[in-house]
Amino acid sequence: MKSSSGDEIGMKHRLTAWVALGIGLMLGIGWATAADDRRALDQIQKYRDMLKDGNPADLMELKGEGLWTTPRGPKQATLEQCDLGLGPGVLEGAYAQLPRWFDDVGRVLDAESRLIHCMSTLQGLTRDEALQNWTRPGSDIEALVTFVAARSRGLPIRASQTHPREADMAAVGEALFFRRAGPLDFSCATCHSQDARRIRLQELPNFLDPASARESMIQWPAYRVSQSAVWTLERRLIDCIRQMRAPDADYGSDAIIALQVYLQRQASGGVLEAPGIKR
Ligand code: HEC
Repeated sequence: MKSSSGDEIGMKHRLTAWVALGIGLMLGIGWATAADDRRALDQIQKYRDMLKDGNPADLMELKGEGLWTTPRGPKQATLEQCDLGLGPGVLEGAYAQLPRWFDDVGRVLDAESRLIHCMSTLQGLTRDEALQNWTRPGSDIEALVTFVAARSRGLPIRASQTHPREADMAAVGEALFFRRAGPLDFSCATCHSQDARRIRLQELPNFLDPASARESMIQWPAYRVSQSAVWTLERRLIDCIRQMRAPDADYGSDAIIALQVYLQRQASGGVLEAPGIKR
């Protein structure tokens, strides 16, 4: 057996040194990334804390209150008799229990679609008039949803479970959540079923984990800093569907409402902080 020559030993040492350096660099990069991540998330949290004392969504809440109490439309009526599920004009806690079944229309409706229904029946506005400019910052529908949601602040999310169709919608919502579709073959679960996932600087909620689902759902509708606008949950979902490159979802469609029923059930018990603040 030939003993290792000095050269060979030197080679081995050099090799070991390179491997050690390589591993060190890899770990080093890993640490740097984790530290950067934490720093970025800390900054975002600081920003949220700063805005909490003066959330721009508060202005939308006021605008919504104005729209609720001002006579409008061909019938020159206010929305004060609108029944959001707990009786005409009852606002406290109504949002926390939506979406829910409504006998008068024979459908499960979310806050957005119920408000459109009220604008149509009470005020005589068409659906288009009620939804006018819904993608523009400060739209009427976003202001109204913000106002209504704020009247459930401090109350737990408890999506209604009194009618069998609500259970059907939850099942449809769950199926949609896991259904892969579109040119990218994404499902909601692709991005929203794992812990500690991020895209850019935004943490992605894991809706299969009740704690994470609650943390997200208690904030909607939310002021989105990147958009300088308040978005309702419906708008958030429509945008995620767009990001999946799936066909556009219709405002107030059963698919969007079913997804909300499923998400609100996942987030059951979360105490509403709406309107919240998001990236
Ligand atoms: C390609 C990845 C991706 C897919 C697929 C996706 N989302 Fe999202 N979702 C995101 C991102 C990114 C955000 C945060 C966006 C931001 O702040 O810019 C987000 C945010 C959300 C939020 C708000 C979370 C919060 O509290 O900030 C909800 C609710 C949501 N998605 C639901 C869904 C549903 C339901 C589906 C399926 C119809 C879906 N998403 C599909 C990437 C995705």
